[in-house]
Amino acid sequence: MTVRVTRRAFGTGAMAAAALGATQLRAAAPTALTARVSTAQIAPRGYPATEVWSYDGGLPGPVLRVPQGGRLRRRLVNDLPVPTSVHWHGIRIDNAMDGVAGLTQQPVPPGATFDYDFAVPDAGTFWYHAHTNSMEQVARGLAGALIVEEAEPPEVDRDEVVLLDDWLLDPADAQLMTPFGHPMSLSHAGRTGNLLGANGSYDCVLPVRRHERLRLRLINGANARIFVLRLRGMNGWTAALDGMPLPGPEPVTGEMILAPAQRLDLIVDVTAETGEAAALLHLERDGSTQPLMRLPVAGTAAVRAREAPAALPPNPRMAVSGLDTARRLEMAMEGGAMAGLVSARFEGRDMGFRDLARRGQFWALAGQVGMTDAPFARLDRGETVRLKLTNSTVFAHAMHLHGMHFREVRGDGSLGPLRDTIVSVPDEPLEIAFVADNPGRWLFHCHMLAHAAAGMTTWIEVA
Ligand code: C2O
Ligand code: CU
Repeated sequence: MTVRVTRRAFGTGAMAAAALGATQLRAAAPTALTARVSTAQIAPRGYPATEVWSYDGGLPGPVLRVPQGGRLRRRLVNDLPVPTSVHWHGIRIDNAMDGVAGLTQQPVPPGATFDYDFAVPDAGTFWYHAHTNSMEQVARGLAGALIVEEAEPPEVDRDEVVLLDDWLLDPADAQLMTPFGHPMSLSHAGRTGNLLGANGSYDCVLPVRRHERLRLRLINGANARIFVLRLRGMNGWTAALDGMPLPGPEPVTGEMILAPAQRLDLIVDVTAETGEAAALLHLERDGSTQPLMRLPVAGTAAVRAREAPAALPPNPRMAVSGLDTARRLEMAMEGGAMAGLVSARFEGRDMGFRDLARRGQFWALAGQVGMTDAPFARLDRGETVRLKLTNSTVFAHAMHLHGMHFREVRGDGSLGPLRDTIVSVPDEPLEIAFVADNPGRWLFHCHMLAHAAAGMTTWIEVA
């Protein structure tokens, strides 16, 4: 026994030495992040595993953790049969690393690699996902969490990532339903799944102890579903939205809305009794609930009574100032079923509804369907921008700006929390403001990925 321990210790030392040597040799080669075809047991036991596209073989991809102010270095290895690229959602990133195929980089062909290497200025909950044909690639599973850690994290017993998703599976064989760009999802509410869950399973289980305090980092990785979240057996506070800390944690009193790509950092205390289960639920329109994660309670944590959690440390550059003298922009959001486009510009010419529909295009931003050679706006570096969105469709949209966070300018002139993705609902004008302080070409699009593919994508340039 002693010999074995000694040997193991020796073995570990030798391995560490070998690893050190290898690290030095590989100084120029970042750790791989391999996109490939794999399988995952998403559906209940008894159903076959689902063929998915994954990062490093897992669904979701590995949780990447980087200290704030550090760098993330990863070599994307494309073992998929199609080109791909990785977008690091919500990071105030160097534009060349933003991962948008066709705008900030060429798509990475099968068999090729691309090195991502960038600084992470803000601590918080972010995520990464494919940004080449994302409507299909994200639905197939190419997504994972990117956690940028505070130097001084809040006092919690555990820090857990909960990547929410819904999968559209064929009930006969539990395989992903195709096509990914069905005209119904393109022109209506997007691709919504028939099996809801978290962290790659319809039955995500996180055993806890009573009175335990957890930080739950919720990420909506679904293509189109807006989750309406409810806590059971937990007392919670919202500590951050889209990676950015709130000035102080806000008690959770009712349902929480989490649109595609949005994040929500909750601090929760488990209040359910031993032998019961706490749960994270999704509330359906008909009032029924679906479990997204179960937290069975076994045993009791030492601390029974606690103070409300303290605020997370603020990130640098959280202010949006200069609103009075800001440049004002307006963008009409149009199209989709029941409010179809009469005509709009697509690939440089005016087209009617039928011609657009034939090309799988249903939506327009500022009269324009999909990407254009010239940006929607050219902004001077450092200027403050107010962008008014008018939603004349009959659907909600989750509008996402790359590279910079923004705040909502509310009717009374007050500013909402810093976000990178915001829900726009029909007939309610929405104004957002941001400081254009990150140079480059940045996408602005709906994160209901079928909408993005069917016209709701544009871009701005900060020079
Ligand atoms: Cu989360 Cu343009 O992406
Ligand atoms: Cu949309």
